[in-house]
Amino acid sequence: MASLAATRANAHATCLSSFRRGGALSTSGRHNGRHNSLVSFRSISSEKTNTAAKTKSSSSLSEEVRNDFPILRSENDFGMPIVYLDSAATSQKPLAVLNAHAQFYATANANVHRGVHYLSAKATDAYEQSRAKVGKFINAKTDREIVFTRNASESLNLIANTWGETNIKEGDEIVLSVAEHHSNIVPWQLLAERKGAVLKFIGLDENECLDLEELERTVNARTKLVSLPHVSNVLGFTSDVERIVKTAKSVNATVVLDACQSVPHMPVDVQTLGADFIVASGHKMCGPTGIGFLWGKYDVLSEMPPWMGGGEMIQDVYLEKSTYAPPPGRFEAGTPAIAEAVALGAACDYLSKIGMDRVHEFELELGAYLYSELLKNIPNVRIYGPNPLKVNPQTGKNFERASLAAFNVDGVNCSDVCTLLDQLHGVGCRSGHHCTQPLHRHLDVLGSARASLYIYNTKEDVDKFIEALKEVLEFLGEPV
Ligand SMILES: Cc1ncc(COP(=O)(O)O)c(C=O)c1O
Repeated sequence: MASLAATRANAHATCLSSFRRGGALSTSGRHNGRHNSLVSFRSISSEKTNTAAKTKSSSSLSEEVRNDFPILRSENDFGMPIVYLDSAATSQKPLAVLNAHAQFYATANANVHRGVHYLSAKATDAYEQSRAKVGKFINAKTDREIVFTRNASESLNLIANTWGETNIKEGDEIVLSVAEHHSNIVPWQLLAERKGAVLKFIGLDENECLDLEELERTVNARTKLVSLPHVSNVLGFTSDVERIVKTAKSVNATVVLDACQSVPHMPVDVQTLGADFIVASGHKMCGPTGIGFLWGKYDVLSEMPPWMGGGEMIQDVYLEKSTYAPPPGRFEAGTPAIAEAVALGAACDYLSKIGMDRVHEFELELGAYLYSELLKNIPNVRIYGPNPLKVNPQTGKNFERASLAAFNVDGVNCSDVCTLLDQLHGVGCRSGHHCTQPLHRHLDVLGSARASLYIYNTKEDVDKFIEALKEVLEFLGEPV
C-alpha cells in the first residue's frame, strides 16, 4: 500500500497540491506547490465512498460478453469493483484470448519457420493461421499483405523506414493533421529530417473533425504521402476516408490510415477503404500487448526494401551481401511474438463471432449515451470532438462518434479528476495528453480527462462514472 501511495503521489504530486474547496484551478494544470493534502486524500479513499449505481437497462451485448473478461470481476485495493473506462489505451482480454496464449505454450511451443519437427510445424501453422485470421478480419486480398509488428507505432516506423526511405526525397511534402497520435507524427519528423522533406498539418473544422477542405487546399504535386487517423483517440471522430483517398490520389500521393481506434470497434474493409497502408495494435482489440500489424497492398510491400535485418527476412545470405524474402517475411526479422500473434488470431475470432457490425452499433449507442449524460449532468463541461446529437451536414445523419469522451470541466485539473475518480470510486479513466500534445495545444489545454468504452461496458458503468464525477467535482469545490 505504501508503495502504491508513493507511486501515485509521485505521479500526481502537482495536481494533488491543488485539492481544495473553492478557489480556481487552471484547466491548463499550470500550478505549483507540494501535495500537502495527500494524507487526508488517502483517508477518504479508505472510507470506500463507492457510488451506488443507478439502475438503467443496458444493451444486451455487454451483458452477453462481460463474463468473458475475468479482470472486470476484480476489485481495487479498497474493495471497490473496478469500472474500467480506459479501453482506448488498451482493451481488456477475454478468456478465449488468454487461453489461446497459454495453450500455445502448453501444446505447440517451438520456433516458427525453421524446423521440420512436429512442434515447429504446429507452431508455424498456428502463427500463419493467425496471419490469415487478421487478413480476413480486415478483408485483405491475401494474408501475405499482413506484416506482424509489435504495435501500431512499429508499423508506422516500418513504413517510414522502408517505403519512406525509397519514396521521399528532398522537398517532398507529407500531410498529417493536428489530431495525430505522436506515433503518426514522430516517425515522419525523423524521415523528413533525414530527407529534407516538408511536413504539413491540416486542422479541424467547426465540428472538430478533420478539415478536409483544408486537405484539398493543401495537397499538390509535391505531396507524396497523406497519413491520417481513421478514428481519433481524443476527438472521437471518424474520418471520411473516401474523400481523403480521393484527394490524395488526385495528386498520386500514398495514403496511410492510422486504424488503431477503428479496427477494434467497427468493420474495416481495406479493399473498400482504398488506402495503401493501415496500421493497428492487437492490444486495443482484445489481443495481447506486443503484437500489432501493418497491412499494405502486396505490390506496394513488394517494392519496399527491408528495415531490420536478421533471421527469417532473408532468402540467401553471403558474406558480402544478402537477398531478401518476399513480404511479409521480409519485414519480420528474428523470432516473432508467436504466442501473441496466435492470441491476436483468437481475438479476431472472438470479435468476428460477435460481429463487427454489432460491435459498432452497440458502441455508437453507448458513446452517444456517455456524451449526452456528461452534457446533461456536468455543468461547464467541454467535450472535445463532434456532437453525436447533432446532424453531420455531410451525411445528413447524426455525427458518428467513437465510444469515448475526452473532456475538461472549467476550472478543474483533469489529473485531479481522474485520480479522485479512481481512488474514491474505482473508476479508471485516463488523464493527460493521450499522446496528442499538438492536438491539446491546438485546443489550448495541457490535457484532458478521457473515458473510453468497449464491448464490455454498460450504461450502468456510464452512470457510475457520472455519479462519481459529480462527487469528485463537489469534493474539488465545484458543486454540480
Ligand atoms: C490513434 C492511435 N494511433 C496510434 C497509437 C499507438 O498505438 P501503440 O502504442 O499500440 O503503438 C494509439 C494508441 O493509443 C492510438 O490511439
